[in-house]
Amino acid sequence: MLLLKVLIAALPLIVQAASGDTFIRDDFPPDFLFGAATSAYQVEGAADEDGRTPSIFDTFAHNGNMTNELADRACDQYHKYKEDVEIMAKMGLDAYRFSISWSRLIPNGRGPVNPKGLEYYNNLINDLIRYGIQPHVTLHHSDLPQVLEDEYGGWVSRRVVEDFKEFADVCFREFGDRVKYWTTLNEANVFVIGGYDWGLLPPQRCSSSPVTKCSKGNSSSEPYLAAHNLLLAHASAVTLYRTKYQEKQGGHVGINIFAFDFIPLTNTSEDLSASERANKLILGWFLNPIVFGDYPDEMRKNIGSRLPSFTKTESDLVKGSIDFIGLNFYYSLYAQDYPRSFQGEDRGVMQDMEFKYIDIVDDPSVIEIPITPSALIRVLDLLKNTYGNLPVYIHENGQQTARSCSPESSINDWSRVKYFQAYIGQVLCSLRNGSNVRGYFAWSLLDMFELLTGYETSYGLYYIDVNDPNLTRRPKLSAQWYSNFLHGTVKCDSMDQKLTVQLETNATMESLAA
Ligand code: FCB
Repeated sequence: MLLLKVLIAALPLIVQAASGDTFIRDDFPPDFLFGAATSAYQVEGAADEDGRTPSIFDTFAHNGNMTNELADRACDQYHKYKEDVEIMAKMGLDAYRFSISWSRLIPNGRGPVNPKGLEYYNNLINDLIRYGIQPHVTLHHSDLPQVLEDEYGGWVSRRVVEDFKEFADVCFREFGDRVKYWTTLNEANVFVIGGYDWGLLPPQRCSSSPVTKCSKGNSSSEPYLAAHNLLLAHASAVTLYRTKYQEKQGGHVGINIFAFDFIPLTNTSEDLSASERANKLILGWFLNPIVFGDYPDEMRKNIGSRLPSFTKTESDLVKGSIDFIGLNFYYSLYAQDYPRSFQGEDRGVMQDMEFKYIDIVDDPSVIEIPITPSALIRVLDLLKNTYGNLPVYIHENGQQTARSCSPESSINDWSRVKYFQAYIGQVLCSLRNGSNVRGYFAWSLLDMFELLTGYETSYGLYYIDVNDPNLTRRPKLSAQWYSNFLHGTVKCDSMDQKLTVQLETNATMESLAA
């Protein structure tokens, strides 16, 4: 409490010298959406309550991959959703991006719908609508029902396509009168690289090697197989939506892809073209089939028969199957040329694409993500220039901080304020350059169970102490900054990382508290 008073008394604050252009909320189009995001397993908790069954994410966490931390309670949004909707309203969010837990809604993966699951999502959606907050719903966020993984191998089997379509059907039918933005799959490209090539994410399949912990998988074929089934499942759900629901419900459906912004490690022409190739293929693996009907030629050439083919009917199904692109972006990586001739038996996705990535921070103890100038502008430009300037929603973007430090230092998250200000500034720049970007969702609303780091690091606008029995939500400086920005009372200056961070106005830590 004392700390809060000190912080509030310290306002207005202005850090670093102002320079360059300034911007405010009103510089964005009036219908541009600002929101925050979460995903089901990462926030809901109540993992085995009211009929929910485990997903591949539960299994991954329970297998000791995340220093034995579990999301079984997480932020307990299952019970605290009303409080969460209130804090969103206090901050002034236009929209909330969350995901529906398939195994909560349909505990057997297919078949009977769980009435308790229906009730929960109906309550959450109704509450959001009551506060004028648009629900933006993702259907798969690393959480396929484990029962389907066990039954037929999950995404590596074609059988998943029909089951996913049926799950989507239930969601469209039950919630589509109120949900107008549907995303089929979260970061489909990272899901397959992390889950089937590296074995570092659910469902943890990869070729066995001294450095991997996978009990099954094949890194040289399964990422492509899983990706193919993801594309077919996505397209089948979209076709269903368009034929059965879209006209009546008037919503939009898209897919979410992760972009890295690869920059060349050196200024040799080899590294330069490696970075261009990496940017193009990591997105094009999914977006080329979706926009043009097939995988990029370069992938076909390098991967050969390990890359599945689309029949004419499948290609027609997949082609054109989005109304918008959902984009997750965090930071830039270096790309280095890595010709196939150097590789021996090494056959992962990035080797197939003939590049290696190298972190731009060479110290592994550094947690905070560097803000790379113009990174998001480059990514949005690439989407604009390559894929016909489809509408884009930035679904995830945010700063990572350590969690083990004191609550006070967690709450005093200047690095997150700077990050948001810089990247929201880049979004505005892209808009002015003609990008069709329609919305921005901060990752994340709350400190939650992180996909790679469990409770070790966090991205939240609100602080939660996992050991607090009440899981009290406490606004951070970033929540205060975001709220002031959204209310039009903060002027930002950040096109090039030179920040003027002003926090002098309406939203105070007290007014934003849960
Ligand atoms: C993304 C995931 C998300 C979150 C962030 C930090 O790759 O979609 O669930 O954990 O990373």
